[in-house]
Amino acid sequence: MNRIFSGVQPTGNLHLGNYLGAIKNWVSLQKDFECIFCIVDLHAITIKQDPKELESNTLEVTAAYLASGIDSKKTIIFNQSSVSSHSELTWLLSCFTPLGWLNRMTQFKEKAGKKKDNAVLGLYSYPVLMASDILAYKATHVPVGEDQKQHLELSRDIAGAFNKAYNVEFFPLPEPQIFGQATRVMSLRNGLNKMSKSDESDYSRINITDTKDLINLKIQKAKTDPHPLPSKKDELTNRPEAANLLGIYSALNNKKLEDVIAEMAGKDFSSFKKILGDLVISKIEPISKKMNDYLKNKDYLKKILKEGSEKANKISNENLLEIKKIIGLLII
Ligand code: TRP
Repeated sequence: MNRIFSGVQPTGNLHLGNYLGAIKNWVSLQKDFECIFCIVDLHAITIKQDPKELESNTLEVTAAYLASGIDSKKTIIFNQSSVSSHSELTWLLSCFTPLGWLNRMTQFKEKAGKKKDNAVLGLYSYPVLMASDILAYKATHVPVGEDQKQHLELSRDIAGAFNKAYNVEFFPLPEPQIFGQATRVMSLRNGLNKMSKSDESDYSRINITDTKDLINLKIQKAKTDPHPLPSKKDELTNRPEAANLLGIYSALNNKKLEDVIAEMAGKDFSSFKKILGDLVISKIEPISKKMNDYLKNKDYLKKILKEGSEKANKISNENLLEIKKIIGLLII
């Protein structure tokens, strides 16, 4: 049986990168797979969060999931902290995770910066929590962006180490699902950096909640190069901004990049940007409208999370019990 697990952190504005890189792909996966989509609030607190904002961001991501077309009847949606087996399994799995494996994690090195001794333990064991998210459900497939591939590989290694330690085939080794076009949406100000909520310039990203005018303005101001749009894919090699804008167009329109290149070949950026702006608005505006409607009814959003967490608790607690038995922890 295939089961999909993925998660997004509730840390501030969702942007086009989160939508195209994650949520939009998840919507189509629901048709064919059993899916579990989590709002990973425990991962969020590995860096400082304002309590009020954390709570409202959690509801905002829930609203974004629903507004984008995640169907809570078919798919489990919940916030991580409401299912305690994630934390409990983190301890158990940390006993199968050599420090050497964690020391290789590039995200920790980046986030801890130069003052490693001041970095908190949670930031270091972040990937073990991520492995627990996935393995608590024995998920087989995990849609992730490029930046999370290393963590997913670690999850596979931890699953393998556990299986080997007890000579069992309990955990399936979770497979990454990396999506095609525009899984990596880049900054509008620099085509070499990922679009990110932590970028200082708001003009680097399109937030799902941006108004029409702001979306148009941001696209108009997006960095480009002096050449017209190319007619072949390999001409994009050293043109990261052109590649990014064409990638966004193709992902939003569900068209192949090759077809988009053929369609836009020879156009100058100013006319392409008008077309792109209209497209972004036509796809994002309905989502942000729905999101705002959902956000007016917080009790409804909480009810969805509660129902999701009940289902998630049931599956993960059963697995946790099996894991404890395998380890030899006395069940009373
Ligand atoms: N670490 C992931 C990110 O920052 C989010 C995440 C947490 C996740 N747990 C997960 C993604 C489990 C996939 C599966 O993007």
